[in-house]
Amino acid sequence: MRILMVSAEAAPFAKTGGLADAVSALSIALSKLGHDVRIVMPRYYKIDRAKLTKLEGPMGVPCGYTEEWTAVYTTNMPGTEKLPVYFIDNEKCFGRDGVYGVPSDPDFSDNPFRFSLLCNGAFQLCRKLDWYPDIIHAHDWSAALAPVLLRFNERHGGFAHTASVFTIHNLGYQGVYSKHSYPLLGIDWQHFYSAGFEDYDRINFLKSGLISSDVLTTVSPTYAREIQTPEGGFGLDGILRSRSGDLRGILNGVDTEVWNPSKDTCIPKTYTARTVASGKAANKKALQEQMGLEVNPDIPLFGIVTRLVDQKGIAELFAPTYGSTYSMCANMRMQMVVLGSGESWCENELRTLNNSLSNFCAYIGYNEKLSHLIEAGSDFFLMPSHYEPCGLNQMYSLLYGTLPIVRRTGGLADTVQNYNEATGEGTGFILDYLSPNSLYDTVGWAVYAWYNKKDHIAQMRKRAMAQNFGWDVSAKQYVDLYESVLKRFN
Ligand code: ADP
Ligand code: GLC
Repeated sequence: MRILMVSAEAAPFAKTGGLADAVSALSIALSKLGHDVRIVMPRYYKIDRAKLTKLEGPMGVPCGYTEEWTAVYTTNMPGTEKLPVYFIDNEKCFGRDGVYGVPSDPDFSDNPFRFSLLCNGAFQLCRKLDWYPDIIHAHDWSAALAPVLLRFNERHGGFAHTASVFTIHNLGYQGVYSKHSYPLLGIDWQHFYSAGFEDYDRINFLKSGLISSDVLTTVSPTYAREIQTPEGGFGLDGILRSRSGDLRGILNGVDTEVWNPSKDTCIPKTYTARTVASGKAANKKALQEQMGLEVNPDIPLFGIVTRLVDQKGIAELFAPTYGSTYSMCANMRMQMVVLGSGESWCENELRTLNNSLSNFCAYIGYNEKLSHLIEAGSDFFLMPSHYEPCGLNQMYSLLYGTLPIVRRTGGLADTVQNYNEATGEGTGFILDYLSPNSLYDTVGWAVYAWYNKKDHIAQMRKRAMAQNFGWDVSAKQYVDLYESVLKRFN
């Protein structure tokens, strides 16, 4: 099959979160199964043109009432032989820092135009290459216009038999903008009504993708159920229920070339399940040293790597006077390291905690290498999300023998088994209701097990490391889905 992935992010070129990892790893897995997969994304300022090859000639992209001129660059996805990534280059739209925005302006006001250019550009690119996909697979709100354009404007010529798949990585981000941008999208006004793309007199990119795409997926079975309820649906549960026959939850995998303790090049000592005790001890020592914590193998070390946004439970963890972290670290013999960036109140609070607790250290910023060391060197990993479509870090943690502490939601519920104190079964610690108190108690439970049930912790580590989160299983599910939707058009 010829498959075109349309995405605002793909690792290692541009990443703000798990979307980038998921898009690249799925593409690689599909390519390994023999499919002709290609990715199209913007060339952001930080992606160095000098390392890419320029396609000949400019590419004009009609975007509604205007046309924008672009260049197209390409390179092969690192580590693969034939998985081209195409970058749409346009200084005005993408020649700046930030995928969706920057800290001082988290949501660029011209995002409707920027992502219209990406999606309209995807079709122009296929024409330029004279390569027409069987499947256009769009990811999240920023690529949601691709299935819309396919359905209403493009399903003829080379795209007459093309089907669309839209994956919801996070329903919380919908791309809602003033309708004044609508004429830049290339979609007729007749579709701007409440059962269509209109959302309280504004444009909603995600909603338009949900309505228009031939099939919908999301990134875990539990999240597929949750988003069809008023509690988890972010106002779109009605639409999702109406499309439930076309909606599938397929769990993300892990790119085990990158996240694998036996060959991780970012950590000082690699290890396997057999050598986990000594391997983790060496990495823990390195992490304690790097973060300026007491170097002591006996103290349980809790790690966190996250975008600092409400979704991840940061208020319950860190809010001034209310968050649980201060009392956990003050009352329990434990250590905590945090790597994250995001909301400024939270970054400030982390700085305050850095100054007031000797067993706590936060690194504020984005740091790929440190994220690997935290996975390898921590004993436990905290991820108490309010909601979590899939979540990658809890899976990385399991594969690194670092026991996750999670809330029972979305992909976290699908990947972590709760500790059974009587039998020693389980792979992590689960809480149901998210509050500072329940976090304190669950961390306390893990600390108790660390000091008093050492054999259980050792068994759980081995069990966690034996989990299989390879992309091969999930990629096959996508292939089945592609094949079944293609039957509708052929
Ligand atoms: P989300 O996509 O909602 O942020 P995921 O768990 O799916 O959540 O993926 C997060 C990804 O982003 C992981 O690969 C994680 O390691 C990475 N990440 C998040 N914050 C940082 C950071 N500050 N530094 C390095 N990596 C980070
Ligand atoms: C989103 C979700 C996260 C998921 C990732 C990749 O960013 O928040 O749960 O793992 O996408 O699908």
